[in-house]
Amino acid sequence: MSTDGPLKALNDSRRYLDVVQKQELSKSEAEWLIETTVSNFARYYNSGFIEYRKSVAETGDFASVEWTGRGATFRDVSGREYIDCLGGFGLFNLGWAHPKVVGAVQAQLEKSPLPTQELLDPLRGMLAHLLAEITPGDIQYSFFVGSGTEAVEGAMKLAKLYTRKSGFIASVRGFHGKTTGSLSLTGKAIFRRPALPLHNNIFHVPFGDAEAVEQQLRIAREVGNDIAAVIMEPIQGEAGAIVPPDDFWPRLRQICDEYEVLLIADEVQTGMGRTGKLWGVEHWSVVPDIITSAKALGGGVMPIGAFMSTPKIWSVMNSNPFIHTSTTGGNPLACAAAIAAINVTLEERIPEQAAEKGAYFIRQLKDIAARYSDVYTNITGKGLLIGQHFVNDEIGYAVASGLFKRGVLISGTLNNSRVIRVEPPIVITRQEIDTILNRLEDTLQDLHSSISTPNVLISSNGKSAEAGSMVGAFLAGALANAEGAPLASALVKAETPIAPTLALPVAQLSTDANSAVA
Ligand SMILES: Cc1ncc(COP(=O)(O)O)c(C=O)c1O
Repeated sequence: MSTDGPLKALNDSRRYLDVVQKQELSKSEAEWLIETTVSNFARYYNSGFIEYRKSVAETGDFASVEWTGRGATFRDVSGREYIDCLGGFGLFNLGWAHPKVVGAVQAQLEKSPLPTQELLDPLRGMLAHLLAEITPGDIQYSFFVGSGTEAVEGAMKLAKLYTRKSGFIASVRGFHGKTTGSLSLTGKAIFRRPALPLHNNIFHVPFGDAEAVEQQLRIAREVGNDIAAVIMEPIQGEAGAIVPPDDFWPRLRQICDEYEVLLIADEVQTGMGRTGKLWGVEHWSVVPDIITSAKALGGGVMPIGAFMSTPKIWSVMNSNPFIHTSTTGGNPLACAAAIAAINVTLEERIPEQAAEKGAYFIRQLKDIAARYSDVYTNITGKGLLIGQHFVNDEIGYAVASGLFKRGVLISGTLNNSRVIRVEPPIVITRQEIDTILNRLEDTLQDLHSSISTPNVLISSNGKSAEAGSMVGAFLAGALANAEGAPLASALVKAETPIAPTLALPVAQLSTDANSAVA
């Protein structure tokens, strides 16, 4: 901080608050806001975001900076409109700014946004009651937090307190968050290795393989590693919408009972209707011992997470209510949003909508994937949690960026695009889905026709392999591009020089695959 730092902050905060108050921007205001945002990210937040995001690299003269949205579409500050096919990775089940959720939060805001910490907060009780009514089996008690990773941390702690054991079994490529407890469970070296050593007594097994879980429990018992719980996502989200075999979850339930360990369903991404049922485990009629929720629980308006369990297991929390606390978790604004989110989810039959629209979307994508088999390796998923699997990151990125240029936001970053999730707001219309599919076809055709012939594929391990001409030729183009000027250096007229390494060599991209996002 310089000596005049506070004075500068006072002036800057006035200007920033002015932006907060505005509903519309003039062209020059929009340009100022883009430059300021890029510069602030590069200088004060994380310049890596500038390097990897297609919203910076692929938009032309000005980076795309988000501004406002409704339903399944949103606008950036320049007025460009996008269909949201990413859905905040599960935040926006109800669409952007659902009026009933916004209305509930606004009303609560006028009364009291945050709790006293001493008196009983009525909304917290109401939300816990509603969750008891909609969660599977005898799950009845809830604790509220601010995010998915905190929900998983709470679930881990509850399992340890109840069982007085410390070990966990989780899945390879599973995702449970990035704080150190949940990160221990997450099954990806790229996220875990830099933070090692993490929580000990954690064992990872292949997802969908119940025998592997049992074997691990047998070994743990034999060698004296006490296991508190098995934790899995009902359908792996971040790994690319991976649906396990139908007998997996029922077998998990049996095995956990047999070995007297708890079963935790991490429904942070799959919950609140995303996969075509209110909770993912309902596809297999399994009742877990602990369930986590977050993301869509806040109705796409407020952050909130929860971990929930049965009266029997919760006895360890009831006997000492201060054993786990959070000053802001489950605050009145977040609870108002979640109460409205549950109401809308049930009233608008969000799980049923996800099932029906998802079945259509998956069918169409499979048809496209069959026609472009040199690009796709698979389409996976259930409901509106769908994975497009490409032959490599570079092709996936070309598709994601092609769609972005055509006004469709889909996941996939410069170095993590082999599997691209399709996770739109569940309120998306059939017409919007058809528009996305048309723009996808257009992107794929463009990719085909803009490419000439070289017949060499650089595989994700950097080695050469024979492949269809489209893939090989695209990569030849990508390599040429990668050796050229940094892609984004001319994109944004920011005062601050932004990080210069947008165009990483393709070989480097390949070895860094899956390193950027969650
Ligand atoms: C299954 C699952 N658990 C936990 C998390 C972590 O949630 P958050 O990013 O809110 O901390 C995620 C996020 O993607 C998730 O998909």
